[in-house]
Amino acid sequence: MPRVLILGGTAEAAALADALSDREGWQVVTSLAGATRSPAPVSGELRRGGFGGSDGLSTYLADDGIDALVDATHPFAAQISVHAVTAATAVGIPLVRVQRPEWRPEDGDRWADVPDAAAAAAALPRGSRVFLATGRRDLPPFASVDAFFLVRLIDPPAEPLPLADHALTLGRGPFVLDQELELLRHHRIGWLVSKNSGGRGAFPKILAARSLGVHVVMIRRPELPAAPTVVDVSGAMAQLQAKLA
Ligand SMILES: NC(=O)c1ccc[n+]([C@@H]2O[C@H](COP(=O)([O-])OP(=O)(O)OC[C@H]3O[C@@H](n4cnc5c(N)ncnc54)[C@H](OP(=O)(O)O)[C@@H]3O)[C@@H](O)[C@H]2O)c1
Repeated sequence: MPRVLILGGTAEAAALADALSDREGWQVVTSLAGATRSPAPVSGELRRGGFGGSDGLSTYLADDGIDALVDATHPFAAQISVHAVTAATAVGIPLVRVQRPEWRPEDGDRWADVPDAAAAAAALPRGSRVFLATGRRDLPPFASVDAFFLVRLIDPPAEPLPLADHALTLGRGPFVLDQELELLRHHRIGWLVSKNSGGRGAFPKILAARSLGVHVVMIRRPELPAAPTVVDVSGAMAQLQAKLA
C-alpha cells in the first residue's frame, strides 16, 4: 500500500491530499509547518511542525515508511524544498515537486521585477499608497519607507507591525476580484507589492491592479535545486502512479 508524504501549506497540497485519499489502497500524510493558527482541514493524516532540518526529514521518511515525497509547498518556501531534495535522495525514494506557473505581465501592465523584499521596498516612491501582500515575515524592509501600507495577513499579528502608517486587513484566499477592486479603491492604492506566487487564489489582486492601472512590484521566486516538477495535481497524480504502481 503506497504511503505518500505531502509537504503542504498550499491549495495544491490540499487538493492532492483529497485526490490521493480517494484512491483505493493509498495512504496520504500531509505535513504543515504550523505557522497558520487554524489551517483549512485536509483529507488523510495530518502532522504539524518542522522535522529538524533535512536529517530530521530523512529520519521521518524512513521511520514512517514513506514511499514517495511530494513537495507541494509554496514557491517561496525555499528551505523546506531544499530539504526535500536532500532527504528524498538520502532515503532513496521518489520526489515530485508541484509548482504552479509564475504570473506574467501583459501589455500595459506596470510591473517592476525585483529579487527580494528589500529591493521591493527600495522601488517604492516616497508618499505612495501601497498594498503590501507579501505576508508577515517580509514586512521589516518596509519599515524605513515613507509610505502608507495596507497589509493583508491571514492571522491577527501577535505584535504591532513594524510600519508607521498602515492599515491591516485579514483574509485567506481564494480572493474575489470585486472585493480586491473595492479594497484598492477604498484605500486609494497606487502600488502593489506581491511575491510571484502564481496560482488562481491570489491572482485577483493582480487583475485588480491591472484593471486600475496600479503599479506592481513583483518579487521573483527563489532559485530551487533541480527536482522532477509538475504544475498541478493531475501531473502529480500521474507521476506518483508511474513511480509507485
Ligand atoms: N513563504 C511563503 O510565502 C508561503 C506562503 C503560503 C504558504 N506557505 C507555506 O508555509 C509553510 C512555511 O513556509 P516558509 O516560507 O516558512 O518555509 P521555509 O522557509 O522553506 O521553511 C522553514 C522551515 O519550516 C519548516 N517547514 C516548512 N514547511 C513545512 C512543512 N510543509 N511541513 C513541515 N515543516 C515545514 C521546516 O523546518 P525544519 O527544518 O525543522 O523541518 C523548514 O526548514 C510552507 O509549508 C509553505 O508551503 C509559505
